[in-house]
Amino acid sequence: MKVLVTGGAGYIGSHTCVELLNEGYEVVVVDNLCNSNPESLKRVQELTGKTLKFYEGDVRDEALLKQIFAENEISCVIHFAGLKAVGESVAMPWEYYDNNLNSTLVLTKVMKEVGMKNLIFSSSATVYTADNEMPLKETSRTGHCTNPYGWTKYMTEQILSGMSHADKEWSIVLLRYFNPIGAHHSGRIGEDPRGIPNNLMPYITQVAVGRREQLNVFGNDYDTPDGTGVRDYIHVVDLARGHVAAVKYATENAGCEVFNLGTGTGYSVLDMVHTFIDVNRVAVPYKIVERRPGDIGTCYADPAKSAEKLHWKAEKTLADMCRDSWLWQSTNPMGYGE
Ligand code: NAD
Ligand code: UD1
Repeated sequence: MKVLVTGGAGYIGSHTCVELLNEGYEVVVVDNLCNSNPESLKRVQELTGKTLKFYEGDVRDEALLKQIFAENEISCVIHFAGLKAVGESVAMPWEYYDNNLNSTLVLTKVMKEVGMKNLIFSSSATVYTADNEMPLKETSRTGHCTNPYGWTKYMTEQILSGMSHADKEWSIVLLRYFNPIGAHHSGRIGEDPRGIPNNLMPYITQVAVGRREQLNVFGNDYDTPDGTGVRDYIHVVDLARGHVAAVKYATENAGCEVFNLGTGTGYSVLDMVHTFIDVNRVAVPYKIVERRPGDIGTCYADPAKSAEKLHWKAEKTLADMCRDSWLWQSTNPMGYGE
């Protein structure tokens, strides 16, 4: 079975390509490399001993998508391609709405035309409102997003569920990711953020490798056990395997279903820092600073629906995540750039 992976050269996409190839799927990738390096796909092939087909181009390019569907008998699409930096989305809202909404609209237009309607979409826990009880269930309240990035995920969910409501041939899986971190256990592929990282783990690894001086811990006065923010960190390989489970689900079931991809356990910023130091025996200097505007104290998933219907659950520990993130960073200090 052939799977089209949009954004397959990126962080989550490259790990998903590995898991798909290992499970015997054929993989076709389309990526415009706006936030990735084709070296990731070379390494995916080196790790699996299998080849994949790569089209360099934009998912908003309708002619290119038509060509890809004409040249390959695709059975399912995993749509990762999109822009994902929250702060940048506030500064460049048009670019975010254009990229993230139009890529989905063009992709689904071509899928309708060719009559292949199995689609997995990368959504985010950011679509949940801040006032929900924990853990977050798929039925928890959504909306009231605080930035354009979050709105693009919310709007895309609305677009896709509306399409599936109107046309029962669609099989759509909306995956709400919690906080993906970690890397393939080989250390050959991993997250390679451009510029100063916004997210916790890449910041920690860059401090540990000496690229940044110290970690700023954003607030220690939250209503959490140690006062620092609590999140549901999930190993990217577990997340990638969730996509393989979703492909199986989408090709066997019609309709539109939403699933949380999280572990169900929350860890604090200081849990993360101390586990990272213990597992890797490296220093991570940090200081407590003001809260980051827009942050919430606690966020973690109820993963029960994914376990029941996708037959998937996260297996890796926080120590695995810290060890694998560090192996990637320490053996590739400048990411794919070196
Ligand atoms: P990433 O930036 O590493 O990967 C996205 C890939 O899409 C990149 O390779 C980029 O070059 C490509 N791309 C972007 N726009 C494109 C376009 N118009 N045409 C073709 N290619 C395009 O990001 P990631 O962390 O792997 O995230 C993948 C998806 O998961 C994104 O949609 C993101 O919003 C979503 N997501 C990520 C996280 C996270 O924490 N990493 C959390 C929730 C949701
Ligand atoms: C961020 C995004 C969210 C996105 C998610 C996954 C914001 C406001 N939210 O969420 O939309 O879906 O990433 O990509 O950007 N922290 C520090 N120091 C740092 C970095 C982070 O203390 O240098 C803390 C944060 O305050 C938070 C935790 O670490 O408590 C995790 O932060 P981060 O990795 O940025 O993820 P989220 O805040 O969950």
